[in-house]
Amino acid sequence: MLNFAHSDNELNAWDRDHFFHPSTDMGQHARGETPNRIIEGAEGVYITDRDGKRSLDGFAGLYCVNVGYGRKEITDAIAAQAAALPYYHAYAGHGSEPSIRLAKMVIDRAPEGMSRVFFGLSGSDANETNIKLVWYINNVLGRPEKKKIISRWRGYHGSGVMTGSLTGLAAFHNLFDLPKAPVLHTEAPYFYRRADGSMSEQEFSKFCAEKLEEMILAEGPETIAAFIGEPVLGTGGIVPPPAGYWDAIQAVLTKYDIMLIADEVITGFGRLGSMFGSAHYGIKPDLITIAKGLTSAYAPLSGVIVSEKVWRLLEAGSDSHGSIGHGWTYSSHPLCTAAGIANLDYLDTHDLVANAADVGGYLLANLMDALGDNPIVGDIRGEGLLAAVEFVKDRDDRVFFDPSQKIGIRIAAALLKRGVIARAMPQGDILGFAPPLCLTKEEADTIVSAASAAVEEVAASL
Ligand SMILES: Cc1ncc(COP(=O)(O)O)c(C=O)c1O
Repeated sequence: MLNFAHSDNELNAWDRDHFFHPSTDMGQHARGETPNRIIEGAEGVYITDRDGKRSLDGFAGLYCVNVGYGRKEITDAIAAQAAALPYYHAYAGHGSEPSIRLAKMVIDRAPEGMSRVFFGLSGSDANETNIKLVWYINNVLGRPEKKKIISRWRGYHGSGVMTGSLTGLAAFHNLFDLPKAPVLHTEAPYFYRRADGSMSEQEFSKFCAEKLEEMILAEGPETIAAFIGEPVLGTGGIVPPPAGYWDAIQAVLTKYDIMLIADEVITGFGRLGSMFGSAHYGIKPDLITIAKGLTSAYAPLSGVIVSEKVWRLLEAGSDSHGSIGHGWTYSSHPLCTAAGIANLDYLDTHDLVANAADVGGYLLANLMDALGDNPIVGDIRGEGLLAAVEFVKDRDDRVFFDPSQKIGIRIAAALLKRGVIARAMPQGDILGFAPPLCLTKEEADTIVSAASAAVEEVAASL
């Protein structure tokens, strides 16, 4: 743990005066109207703040610290790499051993048909790479008009200019002049919020596929390059796909020769209880986005996994046009790839993917038992160690609370008071859980009993 040589008051003042926090109400924070929480240490699934308060991190940071905190195997690997070779670039065929080894480890674990890994630093930059590769390929193939990308409302793919456009959440568009062309958004696969409550899951999946096809036909299939989606909608509400969804969507994409990008930033490396969400749902992507669980956030690293089919086209492109003009200074940074190797080793050695399936099923069943009858609980859903509870004013008629009541935020605060972190998802009153994959059943019990007390407290106040 670091020792700060100044007072808490001073640190708080510097935080208010100089630190520009992401996704934060800037004015409120700067004026000291909201609590700031400075995290100082962590071990296993617990974090400790500067006031000494220990909390069970039921969201693994931002669904990323998958192996849990304090894993010496990973911090030692980073330190050893820093001593041996802190940096060298990967341009023009250069490499370092950890980057090469990690690429091999990723392909060994990836769904069938995947061939190469391009490493970046964030989920956002990996999705930027994806879109550039899709455009590059369509130029190589001599179809320069085939460039539009279809994403989904409530999808989350990052917060850059292109990736913020792909994201389908209003808070990431407002005042930023997003989305930019050529991005379109289609129906979210959100069964609980379907407009026609009489539809079955299969019927709703068919409806989503029909909506997609209508959009493609209206725009002209010759203009649509790719479709991007998360196997399970993440930041948009933690929504597993309705039955038959991915089969129905893929049939439409194949029909119109549209590439599929599976954004597995959350689902990659075990969160659903399978190594990849694509394998879990029978998705056959051309490109896969990875980040978070690749290093469990011990160091920033993302990647684009490229299928063999896509790789052949990229090779053809550089054979005719020369070296690819794309890369970052820190692409495949050796400190980060060394962290990735140690992290994937840890995941295997401790059998955490199987644990995510086992404890995830237990957590979901117990959330259902504890909260299923509460009148403000409309839906409880999840897959592996991703779960959500959605709150409604009227569960029979699916009437949602007015956002100004901030029900989700109040419940997350009531949970934090009880020492458990869950995330109030940004759109809707939804409490999200994505704990580290090493969660035990006892720790799951702690989450459920705190959640149940927090929901009761807020429900009683209404
Ligand atoms: C599915 C998905 N894609 C992309 C991103 C963007 O990743 P980053 O925040 O590392 O840029 C996220 C981040 O939460 C994500 O959940």
